[in-house]
Amino acid sequence: MYFKQVKGIGDNFSYVIADSRYAVIVDPSYNATLLIQLIDTLDRSLTFIINTHHHHDHTAGNIQVKNHFSCRIIAHRLSGIAKDCDVEDNDLITIGKLTFQVIHTPGHTPDSMCLLIDNKLLTGDTLFVGECGRTDLAEGNSKDMYDSLFHKILALPDTTEVYPGHDYGPKPSSTIGYERETNYTLKPRTLTEFIEFMSVP
Ligand SMILES: [Fe+2]
Repeated sequence: MYFKQVKGIGDNFSYVIADSRYAVIVDPSYNATLLIQLIDTLDRSLTFIINTHHHHDHTAGNIQVKNHFSCRIIAHRLSGIAKDCDVEDNDLITIGKLTFQVIHTPGHTPDSMCLLIDNKLLTGDTLFVGECGRTDLAEGNSKDMYDSLFHKILALPDTTEVYPGHDYGPKPSSTIGYERETNYTLKPRTLTEFIEFMSVP
């Protein structure tokens, strides 16, 4: 499997994942031109864009990429973006030899989802290296974030690799085990404690 983390303008990460024939972009962000060049170089067929959530800094490149490759856009059912396919929690997205498992992780936004492919977890704005996503923006919800982080993400094996939607930490990727040990937002807390914790800037 080809797997590349792409950082172009700003601190957003995009991802290109491909088998020998087909490629997928996760969150084109502001990197559409760079991603188009990369896909052309790879000589794969770009079939889908998958968005981890609807925020503009993740979806800004959707139309440019879609117009270039005539690909389709996948997002969670609750996402209001222009999309071609809806997915839900636990859905499998299979493209050639690639299979992504959808893990619905609301909290940052209701449509936030993580994508698990092999041992790699693309976490969007739900979990960063050393941080978690904000819940104080429109539609954010700390209770949902607690369930997503503590009952879904931390249920994954420690060896799972973490690939976030932003370059906010001391390194660009991590593992569940490293985050479990070092990420201050993942320290053991009750739901009440977590909601209080997230309410403090
Ligand atoms: Fe976001």
